[in-house]
Amino acid sequence: MKNITLLILFSGIIGLCGCPSNEENPIVTPPPIDSCNNANENLYYASRFPIGTAVNYDAWKSDPEYAQLLSKHFNSVTAENIMKPAYLHPDENIYRWELADELAEYCKNKSIRLHGHTLLWHNQLPSWMQFFQGDEAAWDAMMKNHIQTIVRHFKGKVAAWDIVNEAFEEDGSFRRSVWYVQLGESYIEKAIRYAKEADPNVLLFYNDYNLEFNALKRSAVLAHFGKLRAKGITIDGIGVQMHIFHVYPSPLMIRECLNEIAKENYKIHISEMDVSVNPLSVDIEYTDSVQTLQMQQYETVLNAYEQIPAELQYGCTFWGITDKYTWIRSSFLREDYPLLFDDNYKKKKLFNAVKFALCK
Ligand code: XIL
Repeated sequence: MKNITLLILFSGIIGLCGCPSNEENPIVTPPPIDSCNNANENLYYASRFPIGTAVNYDAWKSDPEYAQLLSKHFNSVTAENIMKPAYLHPDENIYRWELADELAEYCKNKSIRLHGHTLLWHNQLPSWMQFFQGDEAAWDAMMKNHIQTIVRHFKGKVAAWDIVNEAFEEDGSFRRSVWYVQLGESYIEKAIRYAKEADPNVLLFYNDYNLEFNALKRSAVLAHFGKLRAKGITIDGIGVQMHIFHVYPSPLMIRECLNEIAKENYKIHISEMDVSVNPLSVDIEYTDSVQTLQMQQYETVLNAYEQIPAELQYGCTFWGITDKYTWIRSSFLREDYPLLFDDNYKKKKLFNAVKFALCK
């Protein structure tokens, strides 16, 4: 029990720090499943739903092995950083499209789905936005401009946007982000309306962490978007980040999370999956038995995801390819091995387990 409490605390720390298609959006059709032993062994080939990864732009450009794994295994990508406000919109009248455009072009050429992450967040905001001066009307106009300029720019290139990232606290209250402080809770519905105005076809997702085990936070999210839906303001899906640990949360919690969201008829994006093996941030040994627990956790998530209706399966995105570049090491300054490939790009046992779970 004490351990679980500690783990919940550490899960909370994570938060300190992201197919359906239509005429305009790129269509990702997973190839037909023949068997688990497809000859070229790529990951998405094994799956009935899109398999994505977060793309680290620098690694993609500078590390050929990284680029090779990216192109081989994934048919959906999310920019790990370069489509966040701080990168795309560094000054009030300056948008920096080059890097994201390069990624969008790559996706188009390879028929890979591009998931947009993220229009609004409390982190990785440019400082001009964080410290913007103006009354409520000026904030509203600034937010509208930000959302609509970006959504219009990527119209037809991005299949879906995370409209808002991490807007709720662990106790279910609204996070006091600049958006909330300046505009009140209506900033979320305004953001949805502005994005839909700019591109009526793009899908919109609400994205958050700890939904996997925190039922209070999950209920608050579902209640809020249910309330908006009743007013005719709808999001298409919910991104469950799935930054979890090898020993927590339990399979039951994971299943409950996905089933509850699916029951409300939202598409689900497992949007940032990784399984940490170091919840206590100590020196660890990454033994076979630890990797087995980690493997079981990946399997639990994928098996639970496979149980939700196919039309709600937007896809499953890993937050990185290789342990070498995992955000966990750089953000939490701890040893960790959360991903499918090791530091030398070698497939871990995890890779085969995941592939098998996908093609079962
Ligand atoms: C992380 C990136 O992986 C890091 O490179 C960056 O320094 C901080 O952000 N939740 C999210 C993602 O929605 O955008 C975060 O990505 C990880 C947590």
